[in-house]
Amino acid sequence: MPGRLLITGGTGTLGSHLVRMAEAEGRWDEVHSTYCTLNPNFHKIFWHYMDARNPIGAILEKIKPDCVIHTLAMTSPDECESKKLDAWQINVETTKDIAGYSHAHQTRMIFTSTDLVFDGEKGNYSEEDPPNPVSFYGDTKAEAEQIVAERMGRLLIVRISLLYGFNLNGRPVFFDQVYTAIKNKQPIALFGDQFRTMMNVANAAACLLELAENESTGILHLGGPERISRFDFGKRLGGAHILPGAVHLFPGREQALGMVELLEHGAPLDAGVTA
Ligand SMILES: NC(=O)c1ccc[n+]([C@@H]2O[C@H](COP(=O)([O-])OP(=O)(O)OC[C@H]3O[C@@H](n4cnc5c(N)ncnc54)[C@H](OP(=O)(O)O)[C@@H]3O)[C@@H](O)[C@H]2O)c1
Repeated sequence: MPGRLLITGGTGTLGSHLVRMAEAEGRWDEVHSTYCTLNPNFHKIFWHYMDARNPIGAILEKIKPDCVIHTLAMTSPDECESKKLDAWQINVETTKDIAGYSHAHQTRMIFTSTDLVFDGEKGNYSEEDPPNPVSFYGDTKAEAEQIVAERMGRLLIVRISLLYGFNLNGRPVFFDQVYTAIKNKQPIALFGDQFRTMMNVANAAACLLELAENESTGILHLGGPERISRFDFGKRLGGAHILPGAVHLFPGREQALGMVELLEHGAPLDAGVTA
């Protein structure tokens, strides 16, 4: 499917891998992407400033993409909780604009959703399980999924599990905290009772680029091969280089409920997905 590929949110964790990989593969005639607060540090593609708190139709009409991989989102559950109007506009209304454009122009669209549309009570979620979010972030993504599903056409919803790896545009993420602590042999406390099927961000980007070029539709789960807690992930990341005992088990979710700064809003206990 040669033509113009638009990756929304190319300065994000996933987007920063996608733009580089898409450019390096050279399969698309043009690769376009958007940024908002971060200046892009990768200059081999076409960049467009976009603030998704405003309607974005004009940018789509200008780029006229043949395929959109939509990663732009307000992704912090805490920020979504404290800025609900912005979160709704960015996560729901922007997705509606892109889905509407894609449906009208028969454009391929991949919408990146999240395992946090589930409540985490059951674990091992399949594509058939009904969403039941327990955070406002999850609410916005579940609503956006619904909007995309109603306009299906050539649209695909990909529910991604927690990603690990660096943001190549320099914004620190959860992974940096764990990596830096382990590298500097400093102690870090991680939850042992929240489970995800964590996946490497570069692998996720490669999968999305492959999916962009086929015609699969509906809902697809994308996760790593294993259900794992952040505590076990930290221990494994440290491997042989870590000082014994440097990764501490954080008190279980029940004990931590008062420590809101350390606990994401409505973090489900087991949001593992089958991929
Ligand atoms: N990372 C994960 O572990 C994970 C897990 C499951 C699902 N996902 C999904 O994967 C997608 C990408 O996640 P991510 O972690 O890569 O996100 P991220 O690192 O938080 O990046 C978000 C992107 O959205 C852009 N953005 C945010 N607010 C904006 C606004 N008002 N106007 C325009 N652009 C705005 C940011 O631009 P600036 O940086 O330039 O401001 C950035 O490019 C999301 O749909 C997310 O739900 C991610």
